[in-house]
Amino acid sequence: MWQLLVLLLPLANTESELNGILDTIYADQPFETLLVLRHSQSQAEEPDERWARAWPVLSFDEQMDCYLSGSYNNEMLGLVWQSGGNNEMNMELWQALDRNLQNMRHVRLLLVMSTEEGQQHQQIADTAEPLRFLQVAVLTSQGTVYRLQPFAQQNWVEIDPRREPIFARIRNYQRKAIITLPDQFAPRSLVYEDTHTQERGMTGYVAKLVMEFARIYNLTIQWQRPIVPGEHMSLILLRNLTLNGTISLPISLCGYEVPSESGVFSVPYDLEKWFIMVPCADEISTADVYGFVCGKKFLGIVAGFYCIFSLLDTCFGYLLLQRGISWSTLAFNERIISGMIGQSFKMSAHNTISSRVTHSQLFLLGLVLSTLFAAHLKTLLTKRPPDQQISNFQQLRDAPVDIYFDEAEHFYLDGFRGARTVELIRSKIRYVSTADFQYLRSTLNKSQAFSALTAEWLIIAKRQQYFQRPAFCSLPGLIFASKIILSLPMQANSIFERPINRLILYVHSSGLLEYWKQQTLYEMVALGLIPQEDPYPYAAFREFKVADLTWE
Ligand SMILES: *[C@@H]1O[C@H](CO)[C@@H](O)[C@H](O)[C@H]1NC(C)=O
Ligand SMILES: *[C@@H]1O[C@H](CO)[C@@H](O)[C@H](O)[C@H]1NC(C)=O
Ligand SMILES: *[C@@H]1O[C@H](CO)[C@@H](O)[C@H](O)[C@H]1NC(C)=O
Ligand SMILES: *[C@@H]1O[C@H](CO)[C@@H](O)[C@H](O)[C@H]1NC(C)=O
Repeated sequence: MWQLLVLLLPLANTESELNGILDTIYADQPFETLLVLRHSQSQAEEPDERWARAWPVLSFDEQMDCYLSGSYNNEMLGLVWQSGGNNEMNMELWQALDRNLQNMRHVRLLLVMSTEEGQQHQQIADTAEPLRFLQVAVLTSQGTVYRLQPFAQQNWVEIDPRREPIFARIRNYQRKAIITLPDQFAPRSLVYEDTHTQERGMTGYVAKLVMEFARIYNLTIQWQRPIVPGEHMSLILLRNLTLNGTISLPISLCGYEVPSESGVFSVPYDLEKWFIMVPCADEISTADVYGFVCGKKFLGIVAGFYCIFSLLDTCFGYLLLQRGISWSTLAFNERIISGMIGQSFKMSAHNTISSRVTHSQLFLLGLVLSTLFAAHLKTLLTKRPPDQQISNFQQLRDAPVDIYFDEAEHFYLDGFRGARTVELIRSKIRYVSTADFQYLRSTLNKSQAFSALTAEWLIIAKRQQYFQRPAFCSLPGLIFASKIILSLPMQANSIFERPINRLILYVHSSGLLEYWKQQTLYEMVALGLIPQEDPYPYAAFREFKVADLTWE
C-alpha cells in the first residue's frame, strides 16, 4: 500500500501542476487545440486527462503523419510526453513533430518529463533548435518549469509560472545571421557606392524592411556572396535560391504562393499593377497637318457649295440674260472658285436682285471658309495634334513595336490564368535576360514596349518629370493584372516567418511603406542615379523644310 502511494504521489503532483500551467499558458496567449504526443510504447503511466475536457485534443503518437497546417487550425499547444531516458523514443517523437508541424513552427511545445535527468536538457536544446522549434518549455517531474532561450549562451532559464509567462515571444535572436542577397531592382533594393565617401550603401523599400527587421530582432545581415553594385538578380532566381536553401531571406519580392514543403511566403508586402508601358504618341508631322485640315468633311462642304453656286450662276445666265447654257462654265466656273476661296471675282448678272443676293452669299461663304481654313492651318502648324496612342492590347498587337519581357517573368506569365489579353500579344513577346531587359528599358527606345510594375514605373515616371514631354506612358487599357501580390519567400519552417509577418503588418498600418518608397526615390535623385537628360529633346521651333510640304 505504502509503496503504491509513494509511486503515485509525484505523478499526481505533476498532473495538478500541469492543469495550472495549461491555464496560465492559455491566459497568456489563447490556443484552440491541444496536440498531445505520446510514444506508443510508453503507455506505462496513464495520465489523468482532466484537461482533455477544456480543449479539443489531437492525440498523436510517433507514427502519425498529417500535414496539420493545411488541414487544421494553426493555434495549438503541443504537449509532449517525454519517455524517460529512452533517447531513441524521444528522437522518434521529435521526428513526428517535425513531420506533423510542417510550416507550424510557431506552435508552443511543453515537454513533460517523467524522470529527472540533467544532461537531457542540453540534448533537447540541441535537437529543438536545428528543427527550428524555438518556443519550447520543459516541465520536470519535480514541477519546475524551464524555458528554452534559442541561440543564447545559456540555453535554459528557470521560470516561475505564477510570476511570468512560460513562453515569451523571442525578440532577441542573438545576432544570428540572415543569409541574403539583394535583387538590386530599384526601388526594391539598390546597392550603390557613394562617389564622395566611397562607402557602400543600400537603399530601397524592401532593403529598408529587412534592415529594420534585423535591427529590431538583433539579427545580422550576411551576404551569401560578395555583392557588386548594379548586378541585377532576377526575382525568380532569388526565389529558387531561397527555396533550395542557399539563402534564408532575399532582399527582393516575388509572387505569393501557397505555403508548401518547398517554402513559405510572407504576408503580402506590396500590391502592384502589372502592365505594359508603351511609347507615348508623338505629334503628327507637319506634312500630315494638311491632311488633317483638308479632311473629307471639309472637301465635301466645299464641293457641295461649289455645285450649288455654279448651278445657280448657270441658271441665272440662262433665265435672266437669255444666254445659252454653257456646259463648260457649269463644270468649271472659275468665278465661283475664286469667290469661294475668298478671292476677288467679277459679278456678271448684276441687274437682278436675286443674283446680287446670291453673290453676296458667295462673298460671305468665301470669307468664312478662307478665314476658318487659315485659322485651322495656323493652329495645327504651331501646335500639332498627337498621333494615335496605343491604348489597348489589340492596338499593341498591331502596332510596329517590339514587346519585351524579363526572362524571369516567363514563369509567372506562363502560369497566368484568366487573362485573354495576354493571349493577344503572347506571340509578339520577346523574353530577354534580366540584365539586357534592364538596359533596354532604361534606353527608352520608342519602338519598344516593356512590362513594368507600379513601383518600377515610379522611377521611370520620376525620370520623365525632367523631360519636356514623356517618352513612355502607362495606360489603363494595358494592365495585365491590377493586383499582383508580392511577398518575401522563405524556406519551409523558417524562423523568420512569424516575426517578419508581424513587422510587415506594422509597416502597413503605420504607412511606412509609402514613405519608404518615396524616400528611396529622393535618395536616388540625391545620388544622381536617375538620369536627367532627355533622350528626345523637344524642338519648339525649327525651319520649314521641303519635306513639310510633301503629304503622302
Ligand atoms: C544582440 O545579441 C548579442 C549577442 O548575443 C548580445 O551581446 C547583445 O546584447 C544583443 N543586443 C541586444 C540589443 O539585445
Ligand atoms: C526556378 O524554379 C522554377 C520551378 O519552381 C523553374 O520553373 C524555373 O525555371 C527556375 N528558375 C531559375 C532561374 O532557376
Ligand atoms: C539552388 O538553385 C539555384 C538556381 O536555381 C542553383 O544555381 C543552385 O545550384 C541550387 N542550389 C542547391 C543547393 O540546390
Ligand atoms: C530602337 O529599337 C529598334 C528595334 O527595336 C532598333 O531598330 C533601333 O535601332 C533602336 N534605336 C535606338 C536608338 O537604339
